[in-house]
Amino acid sequence: MSKLVSPEELLRQTEYMKKCEDILKKTFVNRQPICYVHSYGCQGNVADGEKIKGMLAEMGYGLSNSAEGADVVIFNTCAIRENAQDRVYGNLGMLIHYKKKNPAMIIGLCGCMVQQDHVARRLKEVFPGVNLVFGTHVIHQLPEFMYNILSNSSKIYNITESNGVIAEGLPIVRESNFKASVPISYGCNNFCTYCIVPYVKGRERSRSFDSIYSEVKELVSNGYKEIMLLGQNVNSYGSDLDSGVNFSYLLSKINEIDADFRIRFMTSHPKDATKELIDTIARCDKVCKHLHLPVQCGSNKILKAMNRKYTVSQYLKIIDYAKNKIPNISFTSDIIVGFPGETYSDFKETLKLVEQVKYSSLFMFIFSPRRGTKAELMSDSIPKEEKSRWLSELINCQNEISAKVHESYVGRTERVLFDGVGRTNDNMLTGRTDTNLVVDCEKFNLKIGEFADIKITKAHRMALVGELV
Ligand code: SAH
Ligand code: SF4
Ligand code: F3S
Repeated sequence: MSKLVSPEELLRQTEYMKKCEDILKKTFVNRQPICYVHSYGCQGNVADGEKIKGMLAEMGYGLSNSAEGADVVIFNTCAIRENAQDRVYGNLGMLIHYKKKNPAMIIGLCGCMVQQDHVARRLKEVFPGVNLVFGTHVIHQLPEFMYNILSNSSKIYNITESNGVIAEGLPIVRESNFKASVPISYGCNNFCTYCIVPYVKGRERSRSFDSIYSEVKELVSNGYKEIMLLGQNVNSYGSDLDSGVNFSYLLSKINEIDADFRIRFMTSHPKDATKELIDTIARCDKVCKHLHLPVQCGSNKILKAMNRKYTVSQYLKIIDYAKNKIPNISFTSDIIVGFPGETYSDFKETLKLVEQVKYSSLFMFIFSPRRGTKAELMSDSIPKEEKSRWLSELINCQNEISAKVHESYVGRTERVLFDGVGRTNDNMLTGRTDTNLVVDCEKFNLKIGEFADIKITKAHRMALVGELV
């Protein structure tokens, strides 16, 4: 059962924001202090970063797009794979360099990586230039931490765990004014044997239906066109609430909100992906016809060792059900290559599954042992080079499938939400179909943040090209 951070505690933090503002006004007489917040990792982390920005903005900081010259820099870190952590250490080196030029710079690290004891310890011992380290359970206490730093130059290391708190109503500065992420649950209970998330984010806790619903309602009334509902396993949403709501109910109710917008969600755990969920996606016109359903592997032996709690045939059953119910649906997935004990013949089963499902795209990773997880201790005899070869084989296989999926769109008319300028050409805009495929299109009078009906004229491997109907 989730516990809300009490109104008294939130008020206390609001008061700290005011106190910080007072100090900053006295310190920065001729200019506004600026901060830079960078979130690594998943969209849930980016959503936390938006709240960190919200609190800093409330204290009076302006937001910068670069760490150089900022008065406060916060890295909201990720621990999912070793290379995610390496990136943070690399960029931290750069910050320390900036700090030599500006010793008053406040450096803060938060998020999943620092929630690990050994990382927090290393930061304390090896990086004395870091002023603030705070974990995933105490984000709402940032104002208090900042106050202590600003008022008496304290150093803060706080990675206290809670048994699951949710802070509602924190200020927020969103990355976009037409696409919004809305967390529906935090943490995870699944303990897949390779995964660090349950250790660093704590147990799964769902936000109340009312908080989510009113947040979405407000967003769409402010013109937001795409709402991304976020959780490590959205399909188990509500199982810890007394109200009896589940994810399908939440989708249905949000779908009833009277406005022109899209609903996306991630991530669906296959063990909890039910026919009810597929029926709901089929029935709800605003829910995008795209399912990110990470399979991780195509071998039952490895799925068991991963503690995924489904078999290949159960996975394919739900995929087939969805294909029959929603003919144009697209699927994406995550795959881990080279899990301990995986043989080439296990890997071949992954290739077979990938060919069978025909994903529009895949996120593929080489297994990275995480400290404290069960898989860290499993014996792993396949050399790195061999795993890399398997990964290349998988990438090649998926490239062909992606190309075919994209080709099948040529001639179709798709409703596209444009979200950026072309990656290679300023005269182009790029957007996404309901099924989450990328579409490039000449600008004409198209606008970022708006929908348009686009006729698909050409397909590349990773993107479609189209023209305004
Ligand atoms: N909750 C989501 C996944 C979140 S992490 C789910 O269950 O599907 C995103 C992806 O990172 C995972 O799906 C997995 O493919 C990958 N991943 C997680 N831990 C990993 C590890 N130790 N090594 C390599 N990839 C990993
Ligand atoms: Fe990690 Fe598994 Fe939870 Fe996903 S479901 S966050 S992979 S433990
Ligand atoms: Fe990374 Fe934490 Fe997300 S480990 S993927 S930022 S939940």
